Amino acid sequence: MAEAYDVIVIGGGAAGLMCALTAGQRGRRVLVVEHANRVGKKILMSGGGRCNFTNTGTTPANFLSANPHYCKSALARYTPADFIELVERHRIAYHEKELGQLFCDVSSKLIVKMLLDECADAGVRVETSCSVERVLHGEGEAPFRLHTARGAFAAPRLVIATGALSIPSLGATGFGYELARQFGHSVLPTRAGLVPLTLSGKHQERLADLSGVALPVTARCNGRSFSNQMLITHRGVSGPAILQISSYWQPGDDLRLDLLPGHEAIAWLRAQQLERPAAELKTVLADAMPKRFAQRLCELWLSNKPMKQYTAPELKQLAATLQDWPLTASGTEGYRTAEVTLGGVDTDELSSSTMESRRVPGLHFVGEVVDVTGWLGGYNFQWAWASGHAAGMAV
Ligand code: FDA
Repeated sequence: MAEAYDVIVIGGGAAGLMCALTAGQRGRRVLVVEHANRVGKKILMSGGGRCNFTNTGTTPANFLSANPHYCKSALARYTPADFIELVERHRIAYHEKELGQLFCDVSSKLIVKMLLDECADAGVRVETSCSVERVLHGEGEAPFRLHTARGAFAAPRLVIATGALSIPSLGATGFGYELARQFGHSVLPTRAGLVPLTLSGKHQERLADLSGVALPVTARCNGRSFSNQMLITHRGVSGPAILQISSYWQPGDDLRLDLLPGHEAIAWLRAQQLERPAAELKTVLADAMPKRFAQRLCELWLSNKPMKQYTAPELKQLAATLQDWPLTASGTEGYRTAEVTLGGVDTDELSSSTMESRRVPGLHFVGEVVDVTGWLGGYNFQWAWASGHAAGMAV
């Protein structure tokens, strides 16, 4: 005999817990089934242990999806201000780091505790270390039946909140995609996003020993650009500017860096030539970027002589290279280190206001399993809260 609930949520991550507590507050009997030994592992790991839980500047433009309109409704109905209100009600201290990114002052554990406390107050049952063996869909009042390690459960509403493929060691699985396919949904091709890029050949050889060097850049690819730090790694490049652009990059795409962001390169070089005619290019560049990188750039990509010896066309050429430096990435570090997964359950077959399947009534998909992926900076959690809330209000 299956134990009956009003709502079963598979996945006790950000979106699943938000959905569960919202539904519980509406008087629904809710069960959360989590296969890991604890809920919210990604929340715990996030933001270097301080969880960048939202971004005050969240707009639909901060998300990638085959349908850029899909996220609008949920984001409008559960905003960063709503989540901040919850955080403040639980007296969790936070601060803005940069660009609207809000972090806990102390620990991301407080966010998980807050979600679990809200679930407990709303009477939600949370089962951890509970793997799902089968999900069946039949007839009657509770058509969704789950066979799990803890027995059988049934409900008229099933919410898939299993997240995506990034960082398998944190419990990530493709289970949500399998379920989507089982119910006849299409899953758009997935790939790692917000992920370090690897270099090969000349670039890798020339930069590998500068591992650990960071510099401000503007990274551009496929009509997008992000200005922030780039970090050179043993195998390639990382840092916020690279993580952001990685979501827009695919093998073979042209990736360009402005190594003098915030400067009009030609005007800056001309001014340096006037002010410091005897200084060598590598010395001048070391004012705008780390010395070792400036040296390497001059040795292997540019040239190096006193500024006064550069002719006007040479200066123009230097400016062009510095502002449009081609970086040939060979791949990404993959799901092992990616913060998110691009692609996922096709939004064409889901309601944008309730996250409910258009194919199977009562079935909902929330969070990262859906083909909605945010930029770096708190946007992905905001999507998890907003989509979880939208489904929680509907189930
Ligand atoms: P999430 O992955 O949170 O939860 C899914 C849950 O389902 C997990 O608990 C998993 O164990 C469970 N599950 C999977 N398969 C199952 C199965 N078969 N049965 C039962 N349960 C199953 N975002 C942001 O906005 N700010 C940040 O600071 C960060 N930082 C960050 C750091 C790192 C290291 C990573 C990997 C990711 C981030 N992110 C982030 C992204 C953010 O963590 C992510 O987008 C959300 O957690 C997605 O929420 P979901 O609830 O959809 O999935």
